[in-house]
Amino acid sequence: MTRSSRAVASPRVVCIEDFRPIARRRLPKSVFDYLDGGAEGEVTLRENCRIFSDVTFRPRHAVSFPACDLHTRVLGFDLSLPILLAPVGYSRLMHPGGEVAAARAAGRAGIGYILSTISGHKLEDVKAGSSGPVFYQLYLMGGRGAAEAVIERARVAGFSALVVTIDTPVSGIRERDYRNGMKELISGGPLEKIPFLPQVLSRPGWLLGFLQDGGLPGLPNVVVPGKGPMPLVDVAAALAESAVTWADLRWIRELWRGPIVMKGVLTGDDARRSIDEGAVAISVSNHGGRQLDGVPASLRALPEVVEAVKGRIEILMDGGIRRGTDIAKAICMGARAVLCGRAYAYGLAAGGEAGVDRAIEILRTDMERTLRLLGCPSIAGLDRSYVNVPKSWESR
Ligand SMILES: Cc1cc2nc3c(=O)[nH]c(=O)nc-3n(C[C@H](O)[C@H](O)[C@H](O)COP(=O)(O)O)c2cc1C
Repeated sequence: MTRSSRAVASPRVVCIEDFRPIARRRLPKSVFDYLDGGAEGEVTLRENCRIFSDVTFRPRHAVSFPACDLHTRVLGFDLSLPILLAPVGYSRLMHPGGEVAAARAAGRAGIGYILSTISGHKLEDVKAGSSGPVFYQLYLMGGRGAAEAVIERARVAGFSALVVTIDTPVSGIRERDYRNGMKELISGGPLEKIPFLPQVLSRPGWLLGFLQDGGLPGLPNVVVPGKGPMPLVDVAAALAESAVTWADLRWIRELWRGPIVMKGVLTGDDARRSIDEGAVAISVSNHGGRQLDGVPASLRALPEVVEAVKGRIEILMDGGIRRGTDIAKAICMGARAVLCGRAYAYGLAAGGEAGVDRAIEILRTDMERTLRLLGCPSIAGLDRSYVNVPKSWESR
C-alpha cells in the first residue's frame, strides 16, 4: 500500500463524505470551495443530496444469490458499474494528476470518464491514460474555430462520444468563489492576488505540488486558431464564453458524426428536443447545483424526463450521488447509469489517483451490498418495484 492509498484507507475514509474534511485540510480555501460549493443560496446543491431520502426502498427479503451482477451498458460500452466520472473543470488544481489520474482510475475500474473542456491536461494524454471509454465534454470556449479543432483532436485521439453541456448560457453565481478571490488568483495581476494569498500559503503541501507541476495550468484543449492555447481563466469568464444553442448542435453534429449526449436536461420538453436533434443519450442534471439555483434536484426531475423519453434514448443522471444506495434509487427510477462529480473529486483532492480509486471502490462495495440487501441479483433487475416514490412526484 502506498502512502497516498493509506491516507484514504479505512477507517479514515469509510464513505465518500469522509474525503471531504481531508480535501478541506489539503486544499486552499478557494480551491476547496470551488469544488464543494454551488450557486447563490446553494438550495439546489443541498436538495440534490437531500432528495434521495424522499425515496425509500422496498426490499425482497429471504433471498440469496451467489453473485451480484453490477454491469451495465452505456452507449454500447460494457461498464463494470453503472457509473461514469462526470466532467469536473480545473481538476488539475485539486491535484497535479488531475484529469489523467481520474481517467486512469476510471479505466482501471472498468467505468467511463468524461473529460471537461476546462482541463489542465491534454486530451490525448487523458485518453492514453485510460483503458476504458472516455467521452469529451464540449463547451464552445474560444469560439467555433477552437471547437472545430478540439472535436477533430478528440476524434483522432479515440474519444467515444461528445457530451454537450446545455445549462451554461452564463455562469451561475458561485458566491464562495467571489469571496475567496478565485478570479483574482487565477487571472488577476500580482497586486490583486495579494489579499488572497494567505489561504494558499497556509497549505504548503498543496502549494509545493502546484509549483512542481508548473503553477497555473493553461487550457491545452482550447486552442484558438492563430492564437494558441487559451490561458486559464476564472470560471465565470469561462462559462460566459461557452453557451451552446440548438442551432450550434446541428453544426456540432455534422462535425462530430459520433454519439452525442446532452447534459443538463431537466424537463420533458428539453428531453424530447434532444431526441429530435439526434442525441443518443441525455444526462438529467442541474450541474451539481452550480448554475440556476432553485431548479429541482436531479432525482426529482427524473420521472418527467423518463416519461417524455419513453425508452427511445439512454437516460443518465447526475447530482448528489454520494452512496451506492443513491445510485440504486436513480436506476430504479429509470436512469441507466449515473455520473459522479464531487464523489470522486473529493477523493482526487484528498489523495490523488489513490483517492479516486478509493472513491470508486467505496461505490462498488456499496452497490454490491445494496443489491444483496434489496434481494436483487443485478443492476438490470432494478426497477420501480424496489422503491416507494412520493405520490406527488407522479404528476406535475
Ligand atoms: C468542481 C466542479 C467542476 C465542474 N465542471 C464541469 C464542467 O467543466 N463541465 C460540465 O459539464 N460540468 C461540470 N461540473 C458538473 C458535473 O459534471 C456534474 O454535473 C455535477 O458535479 C454532479 O453533481 P455532484 O457533484 O453532486 O455529483 C462540475 C462540477 C464540479 C463539482
